[in-house]
Amino acid sequence: MSEMINFEEIPVKEMIRAALEARKKAYTPYSHYQVGAALLTRELRIYTGCNVENAAYSPGICAERVAIVKAVSEGWRKWKAIAIAGGPEGEEIRQFAFPCGVCRQVMREFVNPDEFVVIVAKNTEEYKIYKLCELLPEGFGPENLA
Ligand code: THU
Repeated sequence: MSEMINFEEIPVKEMIRAALEARKKAYTPYSHYQVGAALLTRELRIYTGCNVENAAYSPGICAERVAIVKAVSEGWRKWKAIAIAGGPEGEEIRQFAFPCGVCRQVMREFVNPDEFVVIVAKNTEEYKIYKLCELLPEGFGPENLA
């Protein structure tokens, strides 16, 4: 699937760098698991996010959705890709952090899952690239309610 992606339009390393930088801002006093995300709009703007936890636990929000609501709230709803980097606080990232099910569904709301690119990264050299349709097959979306 990834060989069909037009990489020329996606600044993969720049997005990963932005996700790693955003990860430094993560507020994670409970899980100590820090995630950064960088969302690329169709206009090539990058919106970043980090996870923000809460003493009541359930109000906590993932890095991906922070980036997404920042973009939507500023009027940017068309996106090409998202880069995600996550791992335990204070350590180099050793595993790929895949988006949770809720974040996959929130992405699905705004994108064509056959086109939207999800990059999971440890660093700018080690990353994997997917289409959203691979991570959320047969999803439910806005067109189902049209
Ligand atoms: N988290 C994210 O920010 N993104 C994900 O895709 C997975 C999990 C956060 C939520 C919580 O603050 C911490 O990682 C541990 O689950």
